[in-house]
Amino acid sequence: MLQLITEHANVETLSILPLDGYTTRLREVRQSGAYEAYESSINLPNDTGLLERVKAIASEKVSEVLRYSIVVGIGGSNLGTKAVYDALYGARDILEPTRFPKMLFAETTDPEWLVTIRKLLETLTGPDEVLITVISKSGGTTETMANFEIIMETLSAKFGPMESRVVAITDEGSQLWNAAGEHDIARLSIPKPVGGRYSVLSAVGLLPLLSVGVDIERLRAGASDVLDVTLGDDNIAARSAAVLALSRSRGCVVNDNFFFHPELESVGKWYRQLMGESVGKEKSLQGDEVHAGITPTVSLGSTDLHSVGQLYLGGPKDKLTTFVSTTQSASITVPTERILPDLVPMVTGKSAAQDMSAILEGVQIAYQKAGLPYMQVVLDDLSEYSLGAYMQFKMVEMMYLGQLLDVNSFDQPNVESYKIETKRLLEDDSH
Ligand code: PA5
Repeated sequence: MLQLITEHANVETLSILPLDGYTTRLREVRQSGAYEAYESSINLPNDTGLLERVKAIASEKVSEVLRYSIVVGIGGSNLGTKAVYDALYGARDILEPTRFPKMLFAETTDPEWLVTIRKLLETLTGPDEVLITVISKSGGTTETMANFEIIMETLSAKFGPMESRVVAITDEGSQLWNAAGEHDIARLSIPKPVGGRYSVLSAVGLLPLLSVGVDIERLRAGASDVLDVTLGDDNIAARSAAVLALSRSRGCVVNDNFFFHPELESVGKWYRQLMGESVGKEKSLQGDEVHAGITPTVSLGSTDLHSVGQLYLGGPKDKLTTFVSTTQSASITVPTERILPDLVPMVTGKSAAQDMSAILEGVQIAYQKAGLPYMQVVLDDLSEYSLGAYMQFKMVEMMYLGQLLDVNSFDQPNVESYKIETKRLLEDDSH
């Protein structure tokens, strides 16, 4: 399913014993199947009622004429969905112009992007060609509500009332939940204790992903199986968290996630939020001022070796790298009959996957020689199953990391402060 290799992390004694109590807690939460504890996002992959509710809405809203499934949401409300979609399809969307349905994202209030979406929506020939999923855990995020109104105005001008083409996903009882109910908009709820960055396997991710044909059952199966492993006899999540925490205590304040599949860039951005918001904290669990955190970065192999490789190999030794790769890739080979056979002759007859793997191994040897610590996560492939496994593994890793860094992995008090200021400025008409 996935392997975690830590032998080059330069942490000699990797004890995860202090985490045993927390493992017991996670097992109890999973056993209960309930949405009470903050950790209860681990119950999503086995929640059959959730799957049925998502499928029921999809069967009402999605037909073979659907062309664009638009996710209106930001942060925890879209990063996980985008991660999975881009890994499977999105990164190649430009090369597959005739593959539908496609997923589009309206996240920040980017005027240029919104104008382009508007032009695209104006070319549609019927309301069923589009599905709008408006997602907000709090139900009142500025960007999300502004984008939703702009998109709905465009669609209503063309097709009349479009509420039947909308699904709202939010916390039960939020302003969005109540308003959607009043306007007869279909709704799916997010379990209260499940925070945005832990919500990809809730309706937040499942409904939009299903609408574009992603096999959400395999996604859930990967997540469920990794939970069996990590809460069973090979606690890869705790091990990974322990490496991150020990490395942090030795000055690795950056965790570079180096993906040797460009399709995984959005997975990296999803992880950036997961790590950034979960352990980047002003206060400890006891309320002391600590300013804790590890800065997550995303690099793509081999592209970024040609931009920041010099910095990584020669610059400050402040990073723990996590290389992410797969054992299986698409098959495509440099021909044996070449146009320019004398140029880099060693690639003749080699598959692109062989080239990539030689580059990855070469980088790792260079890291070892430079004394740079790294871990490896090796997935089987880029399937729904592997993505579900990887993302669930990382979400549990983050719960453990919060314990080790003595911070609350589930809140984000400082994000709230900018949201309040933004709303205050917008209320002022002179702004
Ligand atoms: O993790 C968080 O709380 C934030 O990043 C949110 O996901 C983001 O701000 C979007 O919030 P909401 O889902 O409430 O619209």
